[in-house]
Amino acid sequence: MKKHIAVVSGDGIGPDIIREALKVLGAVGAKFGHTFTTSSYLAGGVALDAVGIPLPKETLEGCKNSDSVLLGAVGGPKWDTLASNLRPEKALLGLRGGLGLFCNLRPAILYKQLSDACPLKAEIIGEGLDLMVVRELTGGIYFGERGRSDDAAYDTMAYTVTEIERILRKAFEIAQKRSKRLCSVDKANILNTSQLWREVIKRVQVEYPDVEVSHLYVDNAAMQLVRNPGQFDVIVTENMFGDILSDEASQITGSIGMLPSASLREDSFGMYEPIHGSAPDIAGKDLANPIATILSVAMMLRYSFGLQAEAESIEKAVSKVLDGGYRTADIYTPGMKKVGTNDMGSLIAQAL
Ligand code: NAI
Ligand code: MG
Repeated sequence: MKKHIAVVSGDGIGPDIIREALKVLGAVGAKFGHTFTTSSYLAGGVALDAVGIPLPKETLEGCKNSDSVLLGAVGGPKWDTLASNLRPEKALLGLRGGLGLFCNLRPAILYKQLSDACPLKAEIIGEGLDLMVVRELTGGIYFGERGRSDDAAYDTMAYTVTEIERILRKAFEIAQKRSKRLCSVDKANILNTSQLWREVIKRVQVEYPDVEVSHLYVDNAAMQLVRNPGQFDVIVTENMFGDILSDEASQITGSIGMLPSASLREDSFGMYEPIHGSAPDIAGKDLANPIATILSVAMMLRYSFGLQAEAESIEKAVSKVLDGGYRTADIYTPGMKKVGTNDMGSLIAQAL
């Protein structure tokens, strides 16, 4: 298979972790006989420094013309004082919106090797944690009409049936491939958008009779996630609820440096990135954990290219390196072998 990938390293630790992810991608290509070519594009602070805007046209065009996008992270203190339309983070919304990526997948997996890093008690975690948050990404309050005067402000949450239906279908399809349990999270006791969401799910679920659907209000879901996370498999929810719940779920897994994500649309195109930011405090110091980005490459192979065995081989390689006791600083516990960004990437590539 031949695929072309747009690579957007961004700022801070972005270049550090992307380098390791590309190492692993190269190793997968060599092992399975695929050709992955890449082109690099600027976005975020580096783009601001080079051309004065966070998301240059060439970057968006280059991404559009690729089979998928691999993104590091953007932002940092150097650009914090800029007006909001010139913030590096503007590049993220620009890419998600501009590429039409309405479906955000955030798996939260607690590796058994890292159970010491989990803040929950062992009896709560039980068998471990492996859940998937399916978050709507281009609608809701982050994209709704907004305004403010000196003494008031408003944001609006709006959803169309079409927007709800397409994210639900993605979630049902994912649930079918997993445990066939889907939990829809909303605030249907208060919000109109949630009531519409429930009407649509009722209609769509008859097409997926093998999937068992449950509903939770978001405040209850937030409690259940720390009380009994094992009850969840696939969670589907709107943009802001998904943002908050997936960050909450990420903490159960020990380190933000472990968690990948995929942003998808109807076709096979997708953008893949770690859920963490640019970690300016550790940038360029060989300290960043590259595993979230490496696991994002695995998601790319699975969701954009349909390469299931290749994706699993990366996930197994990560597990094997953790079994070997190798840890970057963020997941280090006494008795383990501390390694830097570069060595962690090389170890995973070798384990492949
Ligand atoms: P952050 O995720 O960059 O860092 C939070 C903490 O986690 C820091 O202590 C950092 O050192 C650590 N950390 C993050 N990734 C790590 C990794 N791979 N290995 C080891 N440690 C890691 O969030 P923060 O500090 O709030 O934001 C820093 C910058 O990143 C800001 O400019 C923010 O706007 C931007 N940001 C960008 C995102 C993106 O590009 N998708 C997402 C979140 C924040
Ligand atoms: Mg967030």
